[in-house]
Amino acid sequence: MRIDILTLFPEMFEGVLGSSILGKAREKGIVEYHVTNFREYSESKHGTVDDTPYGGGGGMVLKPEPIFRAVEAVTAEAKPRVILMCPQGRPYQQKLAEELAQEEHLVFICGHYEGYDERIRQYLVTDEISIGDYVLTGGELAAMVVIDSVVRLRPGALGNQVSAVEDSFSTGLLEHPHYTRPPEFRGWKVPDILLSGHHANIVRWRLKESLRRTKERRPDLLEKIEWDKDKEMQKLL
Ligand code: ADE
Repeated sequence: MRIDILTLFPEMFEGVLGSSILGKAREKGIVEYHVTNFREYSESKHGTVDDTPYGGGGGMVLKPEPIFRAVEAVTAEAKPRVILMCPQGRPYQQKLAEELAQEEHLVFICGHYEGYDERIRQYLVTDEISIGDYVLTGGELAAMVVIDSVVRLRPGALGNQVSAVEDSFSTGLLEHPHYTRPPEFRGWKVPDILLSGHHANIVRWRLKESLRRTKERRPDLLEKIEWDKDKEMQKLL
């Protein structure tokens, strides 16, 4: 998979793309990251990328030329998804992460401070994504969130593939509690059932705990579950 990131602050990505699972995925050849400063595609001598808004008002607006030229430079023949990070976008959820993880090429456009000239949205971008109802100083942190959640879903990116399948949200439920050694810590014990070695009972306990936790913390998620298919699960609720 190839991921292009267009930003005015390429240095923001260095640590994130080089560390942990994202860094390992690059080393394993699962993903290539290309970070481009779109100021290089400015048509002006001074590298101008923004201008005052037509109609007046405060703030600056990102000009279309540098962003169109930067996207065209990285997309030569192919037509990848071109994703604009902005608070007005589609709310980001695991389902969209799973969809984006199927693509072979993604391009992220990250603006800072300013608004975007509307022609970027209309004629260049295929997806607008928001990571939540709050305003960041720029799209970079939001793009990192999306990239992190997509790359970990690529085959081979996680050491243990089971962990992606059992994630909260991909099962539709929050995860059950986890424990490791020691069996007793400061008087707090690991539930006996997990030490019992009885696999079927453990599976049942985990499902029950997942349901309990989901009901307690995110009852809205339970409404989305197809209970017809999951009668066994409903009985545990
Ligand atoms: N840029 C600024 N705020 C954002 C948000 N909430 N999501 C995505 N991009 C953004």
